[in-house]
Amino acid sequence: MSALNLVMLGPPGAGKGTQAERLARAHGIPRISTGDILREAVAAGTEIGRLAKAIVDRGELVGDGVVIGIVQERLDRDDVRRGFVLDGFPRTVAQAQALDRMMDGADPLVVVDIVVPEDELVRRLLTRMVCESCGATAGGMDGGATPANCRKCGGRLVQRSDDNKRVVLERLRVYLRETKPLVEYYSARPTFRSIDGTQAPDCVASALVRAIQEVDGGPPGSEEGRR
Ligand code: AP5
Ligand code: MG
Repeated sequence: MSALNLVMLGPPGAGKGTQAERLARAHGIPRISTGDILREAVAAGTEIGRLAKAIVDRGELVGDGVVIGIVQERLDRDDVRRGFVLDGFPRTVAQAQALDRMMDGADPLVVVDIVVPEDELVRRLLTRMVCESCGATAGGMDGGATPANCRKCGGRLVQRSDDNKRVVLERLRVYLRETKPLVEYYSARPTFRSIDGTQAPDCVASALVRAIQEVDGGPPGSEEGRR
């Protein structure tokens, strides 16, 4: 069986994390979120965390060398043999070129771009609550009631430090300048698909499952991605 080597592209708030988690669980492969890895490094006070904190809080991008090193180290581990879901990487052309070099000889990348208009992205990010302890997203979905505490671990719900209006607008500017060019970088590949991210999360999940089946032949169990 071939590996599912999936890249989730899309602007801040598009639903990359939401969908990456479902797909990774359905396929039994790791979700690799560079944003989560950097936030964990900040919380742990490691050298990378100390370097990244101010950059993440301003909504700018951490240097290519640092992030490429993180992903290279992660993709060297054994648990990616059946594939992976990359969430938030690559974000620059230099990162995409580095990923292509890392994938030399591996199964082709499947790249999905989740498309959502800017006003909806801003709405989602300014209403998102995350768990202070485990980082899970809670609430913020289409007006659904936000629980008092994290459903996964009972932790306190807070806003992410970069989910305020000034930083959200900067993240969107950085996305347009640095990351949107990746749509052009990948779009000529037969394994690239664009997905309407304004649909309800279950519909986005179904569209992703269909797109992956189209381009990858769909490993058994991929229908699970709908759940
Ligand atoms: P990162 O953590 O990757 O943040 P981001 O790209 O800005 O994206 P978000 O996590 O905000 O959004 P998402 O698309 O995951 O949406 P979600 O599913 O949560 O990066 C943070 C920072 O780290 C960067 O700014 C940078 O500084 C640094 N960094 C990370 N990677 C880097 C790299 N490669 N290079 C350099 N620097 C890097 O959904 C958002 C909300 O919408 C949630 O509340 C969710 O419940 C809701 N929602 C989801 N889907 C739907 C739907 N279909 N309908 C309605 N609501 C929905
Ligand atoms: Mg995310």
